Amino acid sequence: MRLRCLVAALAFAVVFSIYGRDIERPTMGWSSWNTYYIDINDSLIMSQADAMVRLGLKDAGFLYINIDDGYFGGRDKATGRLLIHPTRFPRGLKPVVDYIHGLGLKSGIYSDAGANTCGNFWNDDTIAKNVGLLGHEQQDIDFFFKELGCDFIKVDFCGADGFSNHAHYSFEPYDRYKAIHEAIERTGRKDVKLNVCRWNYPGTWVSDVATSWRISEDIRDNWASVRNIIGQSLYLSAYAGNGRYNDMDMLEVGRSMTEEEDRTHFGIWCIMASPLLIGCDMTTLKPETHALLTNRELIALNQDALGLQAYVASTDGKTYVLVKDIEEAYGNVRAIALYNPTDEPQEITVDMTTLDLGGKVRMRDLFACKDAAEVNGKWSETVAPHGVRIYRLEAEKRLERSIYEGETAYLSSYQEIYNPMAFGTGTYFADSTCSGGMKAGNLGMRPQNDLRWRNVYSKNGGSYDMTIDCLTPEKRKMIVVVNGGEGTVVEIEPSSEGITSINIKVDLKQGENEIRLYNDRARMPEIDRMILKPMV
Ligand code: GLA
Repeated sequence: MRLRCLVAALAFAVVFSIYGRDIERPTMGWSSWNTYYIDINDSLIMSQADAMVRLGLKDAGFLYINIDDGYFGGRDKATGRLLIHPTRFPRGLKPVVDYIHGLGLKSGIYSDAGANTCGNFWNDDTIAKNVGLLGHEQQDIDFFFKELGCDFIKVDFCGADGFSNHAHYSFEPYDRYKAIHEAIERTGRKDVKLNVCRWNYPGTWVSDVATSWRISEDIRDNWASVRNIIGQSLYLSAYAGNGRYNDMDMLEVGRSMTEEEDRTHFGIWCIMASPLLIGCDMTTLKPETHALLTNRELIALNQDALGLQAYVASTDGKTYVLVKDIEEAYGNVRAIALYNPTDEPQEITVDMTTLDLGGKVRMRDLFACKDAAEVNGKWSETVAPHGVRIYRLEAEKRLERSIYEGETAYLSSYQEIYNPMAFGTGTYFADSTCSGGMKAGNLGMRPQNDLRWRNVYSKNGGSYDMTIDCLTPEKRKMIVVVNGGEGTVVEIEPSSEGITSINIKVDLKQGENEIRLYNDRARMPEIDRMILKPMV
């Protein structure tokens, strides 16, 4: 069975994206924060690095040893040079980083976009004041990446967020992270990964400066926390891609959650292409945690060459079926998760047509690394409370997707830092009258506050009958643009039914298309979904 897992994993690993280039994969490693907070030291970090190698986690793909908050020792007044904690790291950081590298691992470090760290504010680490990157961008970045030779940095925001620093500094995340990104560029290193830690999806600018970004507040070692973070990531798939990832935070597996919850936590992080940073003490890893973390088929799903995050294919309001392409874009192979966040067992029914798959579908259970049933049409399965089932599906036929939900579209101004209504940026809303129970809204008024389905695939190209289901309280207009061409203006009247459907004919090219809906001067209707049918 181990061998079969390995062969399948290798097969996944050698297949590259249809775009013919290899992309950055989600970061895999360990971080000191979840278990140790600021109580870290030289020998602790080295023993975790040893354990990563000894336990075969390195071979499974876990490479980064990330030193989080807790290593700071103030700043030299005369030179501004960052000092390292005198008792936690008496030799400084260089020997530790060298040791990590000596094991063939990579080394990650932590800083803050402002002046103090989060540990200074929340954990009373009084020494971690004036140690953030503010005013020391190039000096510290050169120290981390040229002098120490680190490979990754997580940049927190406590010191730049008015609420969480005693100096009441308050900065725009975009300005701070752009400056830090530019300082990294000036080191000449092209391989450094920057993780933005702003505790909510920061805005679409983030994929230009970072390789991953946190989308939630800190994870905790309990099911409610894991469930909330999964809930926050369900409608963010449009913002991952091209080697850039939504970071669901460091793993809490192997601590106090049940085995079922740990499996759900790890499995969903895998299918959502989140970075995988182990957060427990690896020197005392339980056998079941070890087996889970080294499941090569789940890891291959996370590290898949397409780098996609799964989206919600269907939901009954309680449970979710998540899906994404793996191995080949728009091909016959997809991965799915049947996710039950509730406290009761739930029967989840999967209809292959909602997954755009036709004919016989071979299923492989990625937790067991075993072939499962062959399905044609629909199948149902009972999923345990807090549980998930994850499968690789290989179908006889890939059907063209015809339903594109508003909540899976890319909103060019999407952000979660400020209230979107006050800030005038597009967002997603729950609405039980809409298909999928969700819609996109608060769109229009500015050219960049638009909605885009950027992955509309047509196998042969041609004319399509397009229906857009909208909601509007008054007569509104929007412009429908296909592949940046000339737009079609459509007028939407309110309807007593709630949903107004408009119909137009569009021409799609063969392959990927982009469909954009916008109104740069006035409010747009809310968007439930788009349905495309080829015209014959
Ligand atoms: C914030 C981050 C955490 C951790 C701590 C360190 O809370 O979100 O992940 O890095 O700071 O103080």
